[in-house]
Amino acid sequence: MKKTYDLKIIKKEILNDEIFKIVLEMPEDMPEILPGQFFGLSVSDNGYPLLRRPISVSKVEDNSFELTIKVLGEGTLLLLKKEVNETINVLGPVGNGFFLDDMSENSIIVGGGIGVSPIKELARVMKETLKKDIPVLLGFRDRPFDMDDFNEVSSDIEIATESGVVGVKGYVTTLLEERLKSNKPEVVYVCGPHMMLKAVKELCERYDVPTQLLMEERMACGIGACLVCTCAIKDGHEITNKRVCKDGPVFYGSEVVFDV
Ligand SMILES: Cc1cc2nc3c(=O)[nH]c(=O)nc-3n(C[C@H](O)[C@H](O)[C@H](O)COP(=O)(O)OP(=O)(O)OC[C@H]3O[C@@H](n4cnc5c(N)ncnc54)[C@H](O)[C@@H]3O)c2cc1C
Ligand code: FES
Repeated sequence: MKKTYDLKIIKKEILNDEIFKIVLEMPEDMPEILPGQFFGLSVSDNGYPLLRRPISVSKVEDNSFELTIKVLGEGTLLLLKKEVNETINVLGPVGNGFFLDDMSENSIIVGGGIGVSPIKELARVMKETLKKDIPVLLGFRDRPFDMDDFNEVSSDIEIATESGVVGVKGYVTTLLEERLKSNKPEVVYVCGPHMMLKAVKELCERYDVPTQLLMEERMACGIGACLVCTCAIKDGHEITNKRVCKDGPVFYGSEVVFDV
């Protein structure tokens, strides 16, 4: 059974008009947080809205961890209203995180939109473990955010923006294809909107490169009991429904079926 904690907000930073970061204190008995894992955040003290909101971990430090949140609806707006020294009840860390047993320095990390936040922690852990900066390709609609932190986790960062305001104009897949042509990586790790995950998976399949995809589905219980968060996964010749909260959120791209 996953544990819940009441954690104090020790820092809050507004990144732009829709994205902010909070740093929560880390209790001594919290299990190790792996890149790609997330927490279920209780967004109010009066029980409404009832459902916890899943938010990935964007940075882990010795005594704290950071969450980067985009305001979309009621729950994330309530989180934005929380201030330093207030507490948030969190469930977790939840999920399996990225599969890093055979971590290779010949990898590429790809993120899009708010999906850049969990891959920031992945890039940090890979740099720390491999003593090498891993290439990070970031896609944004318009202005990039959190770049000071990204520059700390890798010196090899490229940006694509749909508006063309920074970096290459267009999608992050344009940057990725250039890399795939010049030096085939052993694995590509990805987090971002569904369309981007699908495009990256299909592109990498053309170059015969395996992917790991961090899937984001709407959640209810967040602990594997309600089946709200399922996605279609290939199991031999069968297609089964797997729970993103408990069996994921990271799946191998070769297993994920987008068009069902
Ligand atoms: C494993 C996982 C990790 C996540 N990590 C982060 C993170 O690090 N930072 C972050 O900002 N968000 C993250 N999300 C998404 C976040 O959980 C939702 O944006 C949030 O729950 C929305 O709550 P709300 O009450 O503000 O919006 P709601 O009122 O619930 O919804 C507002 C709008 O957002 C859409 N929406 C809600 N949830 C999702 C979702 N999961 N995917 C796509 N659209 C959605 C709804 O369809 C609706 O149109 C993650 C989701 C998952 C499943
Ligand atoms: S949210 Fe209930 S099973 Fe995943």
